Amino acid sequence: MEPVAEPVAEPVAEPVAEPVAEPVTEPVAEPVAEPVAELVAEPIAEPISISVQDDAFPLEGGTGVGTNVEAESDVDSEEFLSEYCSGGSSKTTSLAPSVFSYTYANGRRYHSDRFKSEYFMPNDETEQSRLDLYHHIFGLLLGGKLYTAPLDHPQRVLDVGTGTGLWAIDFAEENPGCEVIGTDLSPIQPAWVPTNVKFEVDDMEEQWTYPNNHFQYIHIRSLSGSFTDWDRVLKQAYKALEPGGYVEFQDYGCQVFLSDGTLLDRDSDKYPIASYFHHVMGAAERQGKPMVVAPTMKERMEKVGFVQCKARIEIWPLGLWPKDKRLKEIGKWGLLGTLESLYPFGVHIMTKEGWSPERIKELCDWTAKGMYKNNYYTTGWFVYGRKPEEAVY
Ligand SMILES: C[S@@+](CC[C@H](N)C(=O)[O-])C[C@H]1O[C@@H](n2cnc3c(N)ncnc32)[C@H](O)[C@@H]1O
Repeated sequence: MEPVAEPVAEPVAEPVAEPVAEPVTEPVAEPVAEPVAELVAEPIAEPISISVQDDAFPLEGGTGVGTNVEAESDVDSEEFLSEYCSGGSSKTTSLAPSVFSYTYANGRRYHSDRFKSEYFMPNDETEQSRLDLYHHIFGLLLGGKLYTAPLDHPQRVLDVGTGTGLWAIDFAEENPGCEVIGTDLSPIQPAWVPTNVKFEVDDMEEQWTYPNNHFQYIHIRSLSGSFTDWDRVLKQAYKALEPGGYVEFQDYGCQVFLSDGTLLDRDSDKYPIASYFHHVMGAAERQGKPMVVAPTMKERMEKVGFVQCKARIEIWPLGLWPKDKRLKEIGKWGLLGTLESLYPFGVHIMTKEGWSPERIKELCDWTAKGMYKNNYYTTGWFVYGRKPEEAVY
């Protein structure tokens, strides 16, 4: 583990300045949202097959998987995007001193290859802006809360795979008496942070170096697809937690649904995103780093020994189609986030499967166009478990 002596990234104030996806130039002639009834009439996928734990509970304001979400018929997602994206960018590029010898591929910058773990997303400024956008989405999903576990004034907290560190910084600000450690493969955290937060560079798939029974809370957000052995990570979290402490996993479910609750779980000509997910999620699975881990997380925690485990699922629309105001707001950023993510998310994984960058771009462009015409949502998962009071290490 190495303390980060000179954090290298400037805080990114604006969430997103440049869209990753190319603007879709074709005007949308049809209304963005089709009536749910029509979508139901032509399902391309089998009825919902996602497995949700029996006692998975939507907490206050929460919803469940397979929910039919009411759509509005005349929203224009493209208009939103063109307005949002026309603001231009005043961002400057400030490259890190290469203490960790970054690697470069696909026109992007990735973490150093000195680590055994290979993480599939870049770590450059564009990626940092994307992470900050997702931090905003998670905030909307939880109504501004940073966690769902019933915490009671924790003194020591660990944020695994902290990224740009925004979660760790916010948590440290909310809990000035708590020491927060954020750890990541990449030293991309800002320099000016509250005094009670510190960042370290480490590979969390390796042996953890923290003392046993140390933290009261360990937070793991947006790491689906990052680890080959989730059970080992959870076991290490269990050891590092004080008895009575909580581990919490937060992520999107890596599954897409139509607004009527139909799971799009197979290749499709009609719904490009289904095709995208089919290829990318399938490849990630074959490469040993599965993405669809959220629905398995509660059971994994229980197997490791955590108790009082709870899973909360939130609807995460990918477009402006929901009638409900809160969901529409989430959907706006959910759409932008998806468009930003499609190519960088897919390119590293699919080139390993022998796809050319051009073929991946084609799939992403087609998927992006489909985003405006269909009412999609994914799910946000918030799963926590408690280390038993009587645990010995
Ligand atoms: C999608 S980002 C999420 C960042 C942050 N948790 C958030 O929610 O904003 C995943 C982060 O996990 C880090 N990561 C991936 N594999 C890791 C590993 N084996 N050890 C430590 N960090 C890792 C990546 O470098 C990246 O910054």
